[in-house]
Amino acid sequence: MNVSSWLTAAKTKLDPVDAELIILNILHDEIDRPWLVSHNDYILSESEQQRADEDLNRRMAGEPLAYIRGYKYFYGRKFLVDNSVLIPRPETEDLIDFVLGLKPQKILDVGTGSGCIAVTLALELPQAKVVASDIHQPTVAIKNAEQLNARVDFVVSDLMDDINGNFDVIVANLPYVDKNWDWIDDSLKFEPDEALYADDGGLYLIKKLILQIKGRTKYLILEADTSQHPDIIKFAKGCGLELVHDRRFAICFRY
Ligand SMILES: C[S@@+](CC[C@H](N)C(=O)[O-])C[C@H]1O[C@@H](n2cnc3c(N)ncnc32)[C@H](O)[C@@H]1O
Repeated sequence: MNVSSWLTAAKTKLDPVDAELIILNILHDEIDRPWLVSHNDYILSESEQQRADEDLNRRMAGEPLAYIRGYKYFYGRKFLVDNSVLIPRPETEDLIDFVLGLKPQKILDVGTGSGCIAVTLALELPQAKVVASDIHQPTVAIKNAEQLNARVDFVVSDLMDDINGNFDVIVANLPYVDKNWDWIDDSLKFEPDEALYADDGGLYLIKKLILQIKGRTKYLILEADTSQHPDIIKFAKGCGLELVHDRRFAICFRY
């Protein structure tokens, strides 16, 4: 079967763009439509067709394209992902902009997952010392730091429990989804529960972190759903933090 026939059949079952991205990922590894058009007549090997069919079935079952392709772009860079980590989201790029605006020398990323925040900050601020932590061994984040040549110190820690020293900025995109929200997207079932859900209306870990960081940082930058911001701001102010910015999913506080 050639590329054109595979695509014609796949596009009857799937979003046409997804079908093209699946076949491109197998044959060319880049998003390059002109390449695809110029290879319409290419005959797929048996193993290429088998993989394309498997990926098509995964996508039809609702699995996010990022897991099927094994990567996701974040802040203009290609991050490896697998189903042990959250897929980096475009809204998290707002946290990066907030941190860059503060020109910090020492940064801690709590709950690093794929490492997208820590690695991006280390590359955007090469003079800064960047520490990244997660409750799990951050295997994917370490791979991303290596393949993108970023200098990041990784630590396994439950929030601040095993973190030493003080920071200019602590940035955290912790789990904040409340399991009871009725608008939870079905595709979230493919991502790890420990990366998504938290008790107390989704605020358990965020509040715990706020209680732990007193005296440890000048700034705290958090991501949460916009509906949660009023509660977080009230709680943080009660703990002595001052609100600096509140934009879309990102909130920035200072002591
Ligand atoms: C929402 S994901 C964010 C991943 C990544 N920072 C990003 O923005 O894409 C939350 C991460 O926090 C980690 N995590 C969950 N509970 C934690 C805890 N108690 N201490 C540290 N990290 C935790 C999860 O393992 C997961 O990697």
